[in-house]
Amino acid sequence: MKVLAIETSCDETAAAVFDGQLGRLLGHQVYSQVDMHACYGGVVPELASRDHVRKLLPLIKATLGEAGVQPGQVDGVAYTAGPGLVGALLVGAAVGRSLAFGWGRPALGVHHLEGHLLAPMLEPSPPSFPFLALLVSGGHTLLAEVRGIGRYRILGASLDDAAGEAFDKTAKLLGLPYPGGPALARLAEDGRPGRFKLPRPMLDRPGLDFSFSGLKTAVFVAIRGLTLDQATRADIAAEFQQAVVDTLITKCRRALEHTGLPSLVVAGGVGANKKLRQELDRLGAASGVRVSYPRPEFCTDNAAMIAYAGCQRLMAGECDDLRIRALARWPLDTLPAVG
Ligand code: KG4
Ligand code: ZN
Repeated sequence: MKVLAIETSCDETAAAVFDGQLGRLLGHQVYSQVDMHACYGGVVPELASRDHVRKLLPLIKATLGEAGVQPGQVDGVAYTAGPGLVGALLVGAAVGRSLAFGWGRPALGVHHLEGHLLAPMLEPSPPSFPFLALLVSGGHTLLAEVRGIGRYRILGASLDDAAGEAFDKTAKLLGLPYPGGPALARLAEDGRPGRFKLPRPMLDRPGLDFSFSGLKTAVFVAIRGLTLDQATRADIAAEFQQAVVDTLITKCRRALEHTGLPSLVVAGGVGANKKLRQELDRLGAASGVRVSYPRPEFCTDNAAMIAYAGCQRLMAGECDDLRIRALARWPLDTLPAVG
């Protein structure tokens, strides 16, 4: 089964083709709107929707060309149905549902976070079920026990800002351009953690929930009245990154001890962070747990992960009716199990 997938949940327009028989990605393309939103310091939803309208069809055409697949050879269409910006989602949903209708093929709305969780399945030696998943993106931070496709138990989540959101907001305080996460990580490479002391939120409390909004406020307080020269900014960035990483590592260690799961999968944009990867690798080595990551380009938003997740569900016989589905909120643990 060859599945065309579409992702438009936020500020990336993406398309991909996955072959379920070969278990192989045939093509994928991402167009990022980052430059368009940068001058506003964040994503402007209406601009995002309008730009998806402009870019999506040419991108689908280019992706089918790259995959060497004719429209008549597509067996099903998967599109991100949520959670995300509803106007942006509607563009991908309307195009995906309509193409499938026109081609006489099934369509399926896919959960964006399921896509992220399953992204490591696209790598040459994918993890096997069950595993612990740490999902750290711009919109979500959660720990989940994954026993199979659609078998998700949420163990902990952020009570306020997501980890990526905290990176982006702190980067803004340090005068870095949007999107701040990667820029802050680069700045932190030249800095020393410890010169400024930031809290490690929620570590003194039991449980697996996170809270990152206080960390951003602590940075705001720490820099008040300071001259932000390059060395000071780098030291604050390093301490901030270390505080987020320490928090995520401690919660992962707790979750692994609590569940006894044999492996850990890391997904979402912040999963591309080098410092986090180094420390998770160390945790894995110390506790005998295998740690898997998607390649960095599949940590951030892409359609390859939606193609993989959609293909598994379409091959299991799932498909939508003629409704165009776009859900701003959609709890991950309400998805049906496959198999
Ligand atoms: O998964 P993603 O592309 O989009 C969402 O679904 O939210 O994640 C984007 C988030 C942004 O907050 C971005 O700043 C952060 O991931 N990010 C990083 C890094 N690369 C992306 N944060 C820290 N270090 C990075 N290297
Ligand atoms: Zn995402």
